[in-house]
Amino acid sequence: MERKRNYIYPEKESLTAAFVCEFLRTLRQYLDEGRQLHIALSGGSTPIAIFKQLAEQATPDNWSKVHLYWGDERCVPPSDPESNYGNAMKVLLKPLGLDKDQIHQIRGEEKPLGEAGRYGDLLMKQLPVENGFPVFDWIWLGLGTDGHTASIFPQRIELWTAGSPCIVSSHPDTARPRISISGGVINAAKRVSFIASGQEKAGIIRDIFFNEGRHMEYPAFYVNPASGDLEWYLDQDAAGLL
Ligand code: 6PG
Repeated sequence: MERKRNYIYPEKESLTAAFVCEFLRTLRQYLDEGRQLHIALSGGSTPIAIFKQLAEQATPDNWSKVHLYWGDERCVPPSDPESNYGNAMKVLLKPLGLDKDQIHQIRGEEKPLGEAGRYGDLLMKQLPVENGFPVFDWIWLGLGTDGHTASIFPQRIELWTAGSPCIVSSHPDTARPRISISGGVINAAKRVSFIASGQEKAGIIRDIFFNEGRHMEYPAFYVNPASGDLEWYLDQDAAGLL
């Protein structure tokens, strides 16, 4: 049964606050059920405000059952300002003092192909597997202004249907390598949440929602988890053309 839900907030601040509330509600639910919560974090700039608020609001004890992964990484060392892991470490993981066994970094400093293989094996070991793909409890996704998500870009859309859990891609403008989970992992997740803000994304979001324009070229268009649990957290600017 499809449970696609869209949440639209007046501005980025209320979007961030609402997503933080939803995270804490979900964490409470998993804790009450005595379950671990395996989450793949999105990269880029949008989640930084969420990470900061979570670090301010969260009580570390409650995080003892949380395992954090990344949906994608830039192939740079953690000290690089481009590092998704490095940025999350600074504003969330270090302030929370999470145990290192709960943090599953994509090692951007390693050779991309080998690291994609290593990380794929790790996901297959750490998570339940269905139809050959590891199953996350929750995947957070961003959206690029070109319709990319995780690090699967329109120019290499064939990577979406890769048979392996993790692939090597590259940024179409900089050609800098990236490591990303594949479409099979994204659509195997129990729950997927897009978080997007800003007017520059409104056209892409309209095209994806209404199957308009060049939607077939956008990797984000193919996000359709088998669980049916897909959410869009948007601010009014990003939802401006809906
Ligand atoms: C990354 C991402 C990527 C990101 C989008 C949106 O590592 O870049 O995971 O998919 O979510 O590019 O980026 P912004 O949030 O910065 O707009």
